[in-house]
Amino acid sequence: MEYAVLNNGVKMPMAGIGTFLLSPDEAEASVRSALRCGYRLIDTANAYRNEKAVGRAIRASGLPRDEIFLETKLWPSFYEQPDAVDKTLERLGTDYIDLLLIHQPAGNYMAGYRQMEKAYQEGKVRAIGLSNFNREQIQEILDNCRVHPAVLQTEVHPYNQEKALKRFLEEQAMVIQAWYPLGHGDKALIAEPLFSQLGKKYGKSNAQIILRWQIQSGNIVIPGSKNPDHIRDNFDLFDFELTEGEMAQIAAMDQAKRYYTSTPELLRRYVQMIPDVDGQK
Ligand SMILES: NC(=O)c1ccc[n+]([C@@H]2O[C@H](COP(=O)([O-])OP(=O)(O)OC[C@H]3O[C@@H](n4cnc5c(N)ncnc54)[C@H](OP(=O)(O)O)[C@@H]3O)[C@@H](O)[C@H]2O)c1
Repeated sequence: MEYAVLNNGVKMPMAGIGTFLLSPDEAEASVRSALRCGYRLIDTANAYRNEKAVGRAIRASGLPRDEIFLETKLWPSFYEQPDAVDKTLERLGTDYIDLLLIHQPAGNYMAGYRQMEKAYQEGKVRAIGLSNFNREQIQEILDNCRVHPAVLQTEVHPYNQEKALKRFLEEQAMVIQAWYPLGHGDKALIAEPLFSQLGKKYGKSNAQIILRWQIQSGNIVIPGSKNPDHIRDNFDLFDFELTEGEMAQIAAMDQAKRYYTSTPELLRRYVQMIPDVDGQK
């Protein structure tokens, strides 16, 4: 396993499992399977409505809590609810979160950030960060924060590499975490001939080549999967290394192609959307 060291010294695994769009049963099964394969980083969110299931899977693993890096995100409609962090802890069934993010730059996100800072100071959260913020929005947080954000989670894959944003984050002592690390499973991306060629050379799948490229680029990955074979493969990334030339070939695939586009209308809708977090299994 390789690790990133966050700006407050916390160590974060470079590869984990994501749980977006997984039902509670699916999330529980995927996280259990991932922990058995050696994963120690799990990403969830209030809005995924599977935090209770993720907590169950962690407890069922029998692993000590401090061996697992648990990450979740506050949803915009909870930013102004003063018990949002405590309720998140309750659903996860744990007394601390390793990394808590503001999920979207929507509504009163500064209020959400203040809640995370308070939770950090109270020892309920070991690191805090942002998700889906652009450079200007990150700068606004940096100009107003008391606790420096450690991580930005955003869409990154070979078709959307965010090179300029990464340079900015590096200057701000923040690390990037890639969501949609496999382009949300886009078959055209995964089947790119370059990945097939490199897969053949290293005895790895195309998806493993993409994930290895991410890690060598400094991008923390959290591929989502319901398939135990994919879950196993997506963590089997630490016994080979792409050459500088191969990294450059993949870097040349960047075309600023996103699978998700944020709009002001979407952000307004997120604030109105109240996830039924209590009704989850
Ligand atoms: N902060 C945000 O706003 C945000 C937004 C989106 C996602 N995320 C986080 O990022 C995580 C990753 O995103 P994602 O799950 O949507 O997309 P992804 O990881 O890019 O792709 C997942 C898709 O790829 C397939 N897949 C996984 N491993 C594979 C493999 N080895 N070979 C072939 N196909 C494979 C999966 O299908 P199978 O189930 O068949 O394996 C699934 O359809 C999420 O789970 C979530 O935790 C955050």
